Amino acid sequence: MPVKVLMVCLGNICRSPLAEGLLASKLPKNTFLVDSAGTGSWHIGKQPDERSIAVAKKNGLDISKQKAKQFSPADFDAYDYIYVMDNTNYNDVVSLAKEEAHKNKVQLILNELFPGENVDVPDPYYGSQFGFDSVYKMLDETCAIIAEKLIAKHQ
Ligand code: 4NP
Repeated sequence: MPVKVLMVCLGNICRSPLAEGLLASKLPKNTFLVDSAGTGSWHIGKQPDERSIAVAKKNGLDISKQKAKQFSPADFDAYDYIYVMDNTNYNDVVSLAKEEAHKNKVQLILNELFPGENVDVPDPYYGSQFGFDSVYKMLDETCAIIAEKLIAKHQ
């Protein structure tokens, strides 16, 4: 059974697809499975935002085959680790948890890079490509730390 990691944002078209692609690229595929979901339902079935696809492509990562889905309470059992992009995602996901063990699976992704600071990955949706470049960079840095920890723990 692979170790399963879920990346969560609001729409599952901008931030969490990048987080999924980045973390997956840093982990061995036979041991880990990385996925993503949104707390909202608007974009179910859609491919990532073209600006996320573009910044990933520029950095050698293909995220174009991903399809958006909505976070479901069943994901608390299906995944071992759940990383959320911002504090609103955190509250939305945790509000669906019925057990303390499920709540404890949920972490703000930038707390790996800035421990205890509860910093948000800003939502780049209404901005320009520049916002996506900056989101890519912070997710790349925090996913490098996550990958290192997961490999140390599970390999
Ligand atoms: P994401 O960005 O949560 O990073 O995927 C958003 C995408 C779409 C919307 C909001 C955020 N929206 O309101 O449609």
